[in-house]
Amino acid sequence: MQYKTQKIAYYFFAAAMGLLVLQITYGFIMGFARIGMDGLHDWIPFNTARATHTNLLVVWLLTGFMGSAYYVIPAESGRELYMPKLAIVQLISWLIVGVIAIAGFHVGWWEGRKFLEIPRPLDFLVVVNVLTFLFVIGMTIWKAERHSTTQMVLFFGLFSAALLYLPGMIWFDNQTLDSYYRWWVVHLWVEGVWELIMGSLLAFLLIKLTGVDREVVEKWLYVVVGLTFLSGILGTGHHYYWIGTPKYWLMVGGIFSALEPLAFLGMAVWAINMYRRKGLDHPNKIALYWTLGCAIMSFVGAGFLGFAHTWPQVNQWTHGTLVTAMHGHLAFWGAYAMLVLAVISFALPQMTGRNLMNTSSGYLAFWCSNIGMVGMTGALAVAGVTQVYLERKLGMDFLVVQKEIEVHFVGALLAATLFTVGISLYIYNFIRYGLPSEEVIASNKAGA
Ligand code: HEM
Ligand code: HEM
Ligand SMILES: [Fe+2]
Repeated sequence: MQYKTQKIAYYFFAAAMGLLVLQITYGFIMGFARIGMDGLHDWIPFNTARATHTNLLVVWLLTGFMGSAYYVIPAESGRELYMPKLAIVQLISWLIVGVIAIAGFHVGWWEGRKFLEIPRPLDFLVVVNVLTFLFVIGMTIWKAERHSTTQMVLFFGLFSAALLYLPGMIWFDNQTLDSYYRWWVVHLWVEGVWELIMGSLLAFLLIKLTGVDREVVEKWLYVVVGLTFLSGILGTGHHYYWIGTPKYWLMVGGIFSALEPLAFLGMAVWAINMYRRKGLDHPNKIALYWTLGCAIMSFVGAGFLGFAHTWPQVNQWTHGTLVTAMHGHLAFWGAYAMLVLAVISFALPQMTGRNLMNTSSGYLAFWCSNIGMVGMTGALAVAGVTQVYLERKLGMDFLVVQKEIEVHFVGALLAATLFTVGISLYIYNFIRYGLPSEEVIASNKAGA
């Protein structure tokens, strides 16, 4: 790393860490409410907590992606960021919109559309903000003398993510149509264009951390992009089974979404393969842990656990139960949370000049958060399968069943505590690194 403006990424990363802490706090509010400890109910009812939890998740991940882009694009382009001050303005305004949205949820200013609760007027501010972001990144690439596949895939992923936000802003009176286009955002993000962001950031990290030739690493990136499009676009059909769309979606959605794990498998095999061929012993072992961990855990959470309920024959029973929440947690964690944590782990020593790379707290952060999240997923899986059996097979009343499965949330909360210990250690290290320094950045060797 050698471009001073890369330091802007740090502030995005710091903001992402803050938002993650808030997200976890709302997770606990819901976890406790689930076991009957709902003292905050009058101020933060379950549905508010749920919308806040999931929206904060999306916002901190996007903040992390933006930071990653501000870090990676100068390195790949071989030049400073275009209009770096605009990037700072973009961060501040992004956070202001985020805070207004979250505050709005608490006073009933929201739309009851899962994951897209942000009210339409704020959506327009989000669009302006993201256009500003794309402008800075896009102009940096445009003015660059060097272009790489990694950089182009990253830009294309970010650009398409912005484009796909728009269908979610169209107003429909019809529930089926509203749901239909809501999935263009939610599904085509996480099982489409976000995978391009993931693939390109993994490519960047693998090139730096393993020393394998760029050509070899980027060849795999094409395969991942190909598999993503092949399966993910028509795979959207797995959300069209029961919303009032034509019957052919049962077949189309079933077949294509069943192929989706291939893209995640591809990423896992790619990362492990590059690691085994490594020609370099990079000192930043913990960044390698998060990179390989991301590739592997995304296959488990998104690929394997997604596949588990994607056939219509299974989904007709599991749809909208805690089985979905089980998959949602490990998929988001493995694919996108671990990805952002991997980029941060790689970037911090480069930006601050401090070496806290392979401390025991760093490894503990990795293991506690991962074991905690797997434990939480397990508890949600048991609760989900029990819910499906009692409520949908035996026909018991919804609320009676919710009471029956309460005990599993005690387990989930214990695992969540272990997870939180891990995240706290990660953030402890983040703080210990201190602020970035332009002198350090400038003194880094090119391409390091
Ligand atoms: C990193 C990638 C992924 C993430 C972050 C993710 C996350 C999620 C989330 C949060 C939901 C709930 C959405 C909602 O109800 O609004 C969901 C639903 C679903 N996901 Fe994924 N997912 C990913 C990949 C996959 C893959 C690869 C498959 C299939 C192989 C899959 C299959 C499903 C299915 C079938 C549902 C609908 C569940 C239901 O009917 O309630 N997912 N996913
Ligand atoms: C460690 C503390 C956490 C706790 C206690 C927690 C708990 C919960 C609970 C209780 C729900 C609602 C489930 C329901 O409908 O009953 C939920 C939803 C959700 N959480 Fe968490 N969570 C935590 C952390 C996380 C993290 C770190 C992520 C992502 C990486 C995450 C992603 C999600 C998603 C995607 C949903 C929506 C699932 C769906 O669409 O059904 N959570 N969480
Ligand atoms: Fe999907």
